[in-house]
Amino acid sequence: MKRLSLLCLLLCSFVLVVAQSAVPAWKARWIGIGYNEEKNSSQPQYFRKAFSLGKKVKKATAWITARGIYEAYINGQRIGDSYLTPGWTSYNNQHQFQQYDVTALLQKGGNSIDAMVGNGWYRGKIGWGDNMGRYGNRLGLLLQLEITYTDGRTTTIVTDESWQSGKGPSVFAEIYDGETIDHRISASGWSPVTLEAQRFDNLVPAVSEPVRKKETFTPIKILRTPKGEQVIDFGQNLTGWVIVKASGPAGAAISIDHGEVLDKQGNFYNENLRVAKAQANYILSGQGEEVFEPHFTFYGFRYIRVNGYPGELKPENFTAVALYSDMKPAGTFECSNPLLNQLQHNITWGQRGNFVDVPTDCPQRDERLGWTGDAQAFFRTATFNFNVKNFFTKWLRDVAAEQDRDGQIPFVVPDVLKMTPTAEGGAAGWADVATIIPWQLYEVYGDRALLQSQYPMMQKWVDYLAARVNEQHLLKPRFQFGDWLSYRSPHDEAAHAITDNQEIANCFYAHSLQNLINAAGVLGKTDDVARYKIVLDTLKSSFLKEYVTPNGRLMSNTQTAYVLALHFDMLPESMRPMAAQRLVDNIKRYDMHLTTGFLGTPYLCHVLTRFGYPEVAYALLRQESYPSWLYPVKMGATTIWERWDGIKPDGEFQTVTMNSFNHYAYGAIGDWMYRNTLGIQPLEPGYKKIQIKPVITESKLTYAKGSYETAYGKIASSWRIEGGKLTLSVEIPAGTTAEVYVPDTSGKQYSKKEVGPGKYEWTAE
Ligand code: BGC
Repeated sequence: MKRLSLLCLLLCSFVLVVAQSAVPAWKARWIGIGYNEEKNSSQPQYFRKAFSLGKKVKKATAWITARGIYEAYINGQRIGDSYLTPGWTSYNNQHQFQQYDVTALLQKGGNSIDAMVGNGWYRGKIGWGDNMGRYGNRLGLLLQLEITYTDGRTTTIVTDESWQSGKGPSVFAEIYDGETIDHRISASGWSPVTLEAQRFDNLVPAVSEPVRKKETFTPIKILRTPKGEQVIDFGQNLTGWVIVKASGPAGAAISIDHGEVLDKQGNFYNENLRVAKAQANYILSGQGEEVFEPHFTFYGFRYIRVNGYPGELKPENFTAVALYSDMKPAGTFECSNPLLNQLQHNITWGQRGNFVDVPTDCPQRDERLGWTGDAQAFFRTATFNFNVKNFFTKWLRDVAAEQDRDGQIPFVVPDVLKMTPTAEGGAAGWADVATIIPWQLYEVYGDRALLQSQYPMMQKWVDYLAARVNEQHLLKPRFQFGDWLSYRSPHDEAAHAITDNQEIANCFYAHSLQNLINAAGVLGKTDDVARYKIVLDTLKSSFLKEYVTPNGRLMSNTQTAYVLALHFDMLPESMRPMAAQRLVDNIKRYDMHLTTGFLGTPYLCHVLTRFGYPEVAYALLRQESYPSWLYPVKMGATTIWERWDGIKPDGEFQTVTMNSFNHYAYGAIGDWMYRNTLGIQPLEPGYKKIQIKPVITESKLTYAKGSYETAYGKIASSWRIEGGKLTLSVEIPAGTTAEVYVPDTSGKQYSKKEVGPGKYEWTAE
């Protein structure tokens, strides 16, 4: 006990030291360029300072941030290995800075610091319409370098009036439009900087993993398309950029367009990027082999179209590199159906490509925004693939910061749409992110303090809704996205797939209430529990009167309506079996196809399993024709598509204005696969107590195996059917206990075991 508290003391003081050094006392000033620039400029700015150090350096730490995106160098060497820093936040509320150990980059004698700042999210085009300068019209740099010499003395270098500003080889950069780099230009035109508006109160240390370079891809094919264009296929739809090597005459200009798919004829296609130009332009200096890569943009692509390349396109000169938030991998999943393995692959790549500092809808078109609905739909799956605790802790701070005074949550966070007069917020399943992610974050990571910090946001959102009900205690109509992108039949049964928006909204209201009640329970807020339970009970009985017949038929006789009503416990127990049966009947009416959109899809298979229809869940999962999860897989997808039929069975594209091939929302099935096919579930927050219960009835699988990394260590679950016998092997980490349910080969009978940490294996007939 004593030892434990000593350890705790040590740990606490360590945390304190780290926390102290993580936030410098800012002596630096915000600096900007000293020359005139055009309005709405997209030209990156360069900053520099030369200085001399009289003694040997023992330790040096730099704190850096920018109004824009920065990259910084000491003596020509890059500081750190993070990209797109300082990352994207609601800058007005919290503006991150990074801390770097730069000891190894400095030397006794002459030194120089160079930094470049591009528009990024701060000043660049983001959102729609006339949309530059969302956060400000002037770029800026803030840097503080604290140096300790070997003799213990210290000195500090900061951004101030002594710095110079200029222009350099990166002459144009925008997130949506791409970057132009001209190697004939070297940084020049140095002039004194100006001191910018000084603000330090919003500066916060970065809490989430930075964006880093991750996987690289070499071309799998270099093609000449029917149109005669030169196109390179990297084999994977990804978010990042291509590093290009070229040798040629000075002034030779290479232009590279990015696209996710080829069209039916095999031609390069990027119309679905809408107005995002997503183009790299590289101009050669003519001095031997030159290497190009951008600094202030990213692209969502699998294919590039190359124009103007001097000489033949050779694979070794083109390397695609994926960039995303460097989250720790958490889970693995594999089974005997290769199509499902490809689906899992596509889900994880959808996550990589859309976890570039902010959870985005898509990484390629003129959007790339933190759509709240998409994030909540995918959250639980995201936790299985990577450790997303820090990633969402950071983002949820912005959700709270962007919450209106009256409690409304915007459609996107950071909220770059609110400045357009038509955009509001508060849509069902989007704004409910305010209760859904905090509660699930707690279930997965068990961090009570985090839940506590998010509680006010959860409560404000619920109170906002509670103030907007009619006499029947049902929500008043307002703008809704509804069950976004659900299946729309070209035939007359369309009504079966379209769910009433108000019905959905009241279900999500109940869900948010329940999440809040759960959180209040954990936090010991008994008054809140009692108060909101009354509201929830009233809502449920009004819902019943308004939307449900005595025989459990819902007003909208759709899959999503049944799924939401069942998953959120809107119906009395007695009615649930009938409602579940109607859900199954509906699925059968669509010939074992789903018809759900963004809001119904995440829960569909969960509801089927919970109410005794695992074979229907598996039939949907295995379905290969549209609409289904495997249809895009069969069509060659390497990520999750925005629409069930982004490419139609006849090879034509869906509507060009909204057809992303990298949208994670429908990847929400991943959560079901981990929790059912592998059977890994938390029974207590943070997986302190675990359930392993593989659901295998009619899975048509012969094996599944996978693992999940918790704070306690690794959970593993793998089962195999061979020679009429099922073998289940599990691994339970230290500090936890588990209930393991060993299925028989039919999956219909389970035998239950209670175990502690260790590795186990059981067989059953
Ligand atoms: C985005 C979505 C988002 C939706 C709102 C789209 O443009 O790409 O994924 O949730 O708008 O309905």
